[in-house]
Amino acid sequence: MLHDPNRIYIFDTTLRDGEQVPGCQLTTSEKIEIALRLEALGVDVIEAGFPVSSPGDFQSVVELSKAITEPIICALTRANKNDIDVAAKSLKYAKRPRIHTGIGASDMHIKYKFNSTREDILQRGVDAVKYAKKFVEDIEFYAEDAGRADNAFLAQMVEAVIAAGATVVNIPDTNGYCLPDQYGSKIKYLMDHVKNIDQAIISVHCHNDLGLATANTIAGIQNGARQAECTINGIGERAGNTSLEEVAMILKTHQTLNKYSKINSKHFYELSGMVSRMMRMPVQANKAIVGKNAFAHSSGIHQDGVLKHRENYEIINPEDVGIDQSAIILTARSGRHALKHHLERLGYVLEKINLDDVYERFLLVADQKKEIKDDDLLALMSDGTERNYKAGVTVKLLQVMCGDPLIPTSIIKLDINGKMHEATSSGNGPVDATIKAINSILDKDICIKEFHIDAIEGGSDDVSKVNMRIKYLDKNYTGYGFSTDIVQASANAYLDAVNKFI
Ligand code: KIV
Ligand code: ZN
Repeated sequence: MLHDPNRIYIFDTTLRDGEQVPGCQLTTSEKIEIALRLEALGVDVIEAGFPVSSPGDFQSVVELSKAITEPIICALTRANKNDIDVAAKSLKYAKRPRIHTGIGASDMHIKYKFNSTREDILQRGVDAVKYAKKFVEDIEFYAEDAGRADNAFLAQMVEAVIAAGATVVNIPDTNGYCLPDQYGSKIKYLMDHVKNIDQAIISVHCHNDLGLATANTIAGIQNGARQAECTINGIGERAGNTSLEEVAMILKTHQTLNKYSKINSKHFYELSGMVSRMMRMPVQANKAIVGKNAFAHSSGIHQDGVLKHRENYEIINPEDVGIDQSAIILTARSGRHALKHHLERLGYVLEKINLDDVYERFLLVADQKKEIKDDDLLALMSDGTERNYKAGVTVKLLQVMCGDPLIPTSIIKLDINGKMHEATSSGNGPVDATIKAINSILDKDICIKEFHIDAIEGGSDDVSKVNMRIKYLDKNYTGYGFSTDIVQASANAYLDAVNKFI
């Protein structure tokens, strides 16, 4: 592991630091499923759990050790013999086992957590490493709260644990306290002041309390750290840990850093969804790399720019993180370019479409909905483009009153070949009242034979689609209408059918 200075080892702690989050607990079989995906992703180390913490955690480390071949399987302990004994037992089947032991390094932890002294704590750290070394060769030592620890003492501690046999030394910013330049300087200080530093790998483990976990991790890497400890989706204690996908994509995007990992980023999107689902921890929409909006462009200017040349507004190719294509989100702020892009994607032949007309109708729906999805577009197109007749009857005004204890009443104004007609009617519901009001204007013997109403996606802001079949003078006519307003959609469908014979 000590060879290539530019290779960054990725240590995943989703199943340990991530799983510590209340509500995120996983079963052993869920952990195995995630671990297998982490293996496919190409992580170097999987921290499988804290075996002494519960029989379930112990068993998970055992089962993961059996299931995983390539990555190192790591088990966490405190700096005491019992923790280490249990961890060693849990790693029995691991092909490449590692014990991760450690103790607080800041004066705060030394005094208020351990009620001890620097000398005693240093000795306990050294003893733990020596004891763990009896079981496995690969020992990682963590200097908890190193972010707030005195650099000179930290250097002393790091030197002593390396001398005791630690192969990796973790410098955690346990409380997410450091600024990137402070954390970077801390790593540099260790690189410059620890005599035997070349005999171990320095690892960075940052928490996100100030939103700086990824920035600090990168600062650590820039100053000599060669292992980054991260979690999928940045899940972890409090505000979380460093996000694995962010670190890997930063290394990939910024080639000038001259660092690389062996992560296959194409797995990110799927794995992020899996972890989110299993841990019942939603990914924020604007989360870098894997958030729903990470590659979504909704303003007209950005959409136009992306469609002309993707790199205008995208520094990462969405395909590189496993997303099929960047999402050009259709909203009321989208322009004709975006609409055209989606119509083409859905297979419409643009030469056959009056784009201005479609765009006008699109805006009417978009004004009422947050986002226009494929089904909305299909509804919009089937309402207009397949129409091969001129609509002689159109709705100019529709007003309904309904609800308990009102009698459902509808007022409608129709334009029939340029002439305005108005009627009011009541019915057993708002749709019935509206159809009766229309009929009282049309004054024809029309009978509704079929009426289907569907919500496209199911949300309360959804577009309703109405399909109708009516009978007039022994002939059937079908009509289709859509609107976010169910009564309007019904009136549209009815008149769509009526217009076929008037
Ligand atoms: O944040 C931390 O200090 C840790 C250690 C146990 C490695 O998670
Ligand atoms: Zn941590």
